[in-house]
Amino acid sequence: MSAGLVTAAYIIAALFFILSLAGLSNQETARRGNIFGMAGMSIALFTTIFSEQTHGIAWILIAMLLGAAIGIYRAKRVEMTEMPELIAILHSFVGLAAVFVGFNSYMDRAAVSPEMHNIHLVEVFLGIFIGAVTFTGSIVAFGKLNGKLSSKPLSLPHKHKLNLAALIVSFLLLVAFIKADGSTLALIVMTLIALAFGWHLVASIGGADMPVVISMLNSYSGWAAAAAGFMLGNDLLIVTGALVGSSGAILSYIMCKGMNRSFISVIAGGFGTDGTAAAAGEEDGEYRELSATEVAELLKGSKSVIITPGYGMAVAQAQYPVAQITETLRAQGVNVRFGIHPVAGRLPGHMNVLLAEAKVPYDIVLEMDEINDDFADTDVVLVIGANDTVNPAAQTDPNSPIAGMPVLHVWEAENVVILKRSMNTGYAGVQNPLFFKENSFMCFGDAKDTMQAVLDALKS
Ligand code: TAP
Repeated sequence: MSAGLVTAAYIIAALFFILSLAGLSNQETARRGNIFGMAGMSIALFTTIFSEQTHGIAWILIAMLLGAAIGIYRAKRVEMTEMPELIAILHSFVGLAAVFVGFNSYMDRAAVSPEMHNIHLVEVFLGIFIGAVTFTGSIVAFGKLNGKLSSKPLSLPHKHKLNLAALIVSFLLLVAFIKADGSTLALIVMTLIALAFGWHLVASIGGADMPVVISMLNSYSGWAAAAAGFMLGNDLLIVTGALVGSSGAILSYIMCKGMNRSFISVIAGGFGTDGTAAAAGEEDGEYRELSATEVAELLKGSKSVIITPGYGMAVAQAQYPVAQITETLRAQGVNVRFGIHPVAGRLPGHMNVLLAEAKVPYDIVLEMDEINDDFADTDVVLVIGANDTVNPAAQTDPNSPIAGMPVLHVWEAENVVILKRSMNTGYAGVQNPLFFKENSFMCFGDAKDTMQAVLDALKS
């Protein structure tokens, strides 16, 4: 394929990626956005493989077949609740790829023209640095999300000074690297520092703030890909990396605003808590219980109901009986709506996807800001497998790991029914005073079984 044709194909692929991002910004157009993305990536892959610059196509095809087989196998088996882990581990691959491309470009540096030599060295250095930070940061995020690493923040003494020292030493190594016209030792020392820095940056962040970390790593992986694009002289990789990097940064900013966190502290790592979460995990007070039949009775006698789902609904796959309960109550004239917290579940939009899957009408699914003032006029709130997102301690306890995070004001309703299996804490590891309020009732069990029992009782 000639160079002109490759450039034209790359422009078309880049346009598809932009259309893809535009489509993904809205639930109703998200499917179309994915199709645009797939089309753009197919054009990009085909063009790169068959361009004049590419050699050893057989090796590339073998690697692609292997990669595609593993990808298809994992994608088919992954549960919706495991998506953030999958995304985190995929980010780590992008980071590792950038490190490999960096070392490869370093070894090939003789092929670069003399006037571009220093620029190339800077590209190599930065590409490896960003890639290494993304690699270990994403592995820690993966471990925290699948429970293999503690979700509590690591609090090393002088942690911010350590981060700053890593950055300063890396900068000095960059200067030494350029002055020495490419020193292997400086590159290796910087790589080790960057690996440790990425690990420490994410390990210092507490569980409740993980959503922002995921989108931040998404952004880092984009910049790592853009850096690889510079090293390889591939314009499309630069454009795509910059699109991912900037959209990830915008998403991180929006999520920080939604969670009342400072964007700068997120980038610096270790924002939020000083590790007081451990003490906050104990029960405090007495709680009351309701059976599924009693919950159904309560619902029958109400005029307005708000359902606030969380991670537990996703684990239990309770969205189907929930959708049927909604339909049954609406047919009886009850005003049923859903209140969705921006970080409910384990990935952005998690609840919206599940409810759309179960065919819950879009117009009764409201964002937190749209519904928060309505709880006071609500007869019954059903909290289904949600915990941190309905925790009043976020507003009342300045020492809580989730202090300052906006939450759904479910406790303002006349009755609150909390469906979960036990008195265990949520992802942030903090106890929830909501469970012990006078108007709260626990309904224990797997959310799907409980919701099915409520549905049966409603219909009988
Ligand atoms: P959580 O606070 O994690 O609470 C979920 C609750 O569901 C748990 O208390 C658990 O209690 C219950 N549960 C689990 N399995 C269940 C089942 N089969 N049936 C019934 N209940 C079940 O969830 P949330 O309120 O959705 O808050 C989300 C949390 O995750 C936040 O801290 C957020 O920061 C974090 N996070 C979010 C994201 C994104 S982007 N959304 C990404 C990473 C982390 P039992 O064990 O007692 O059943």
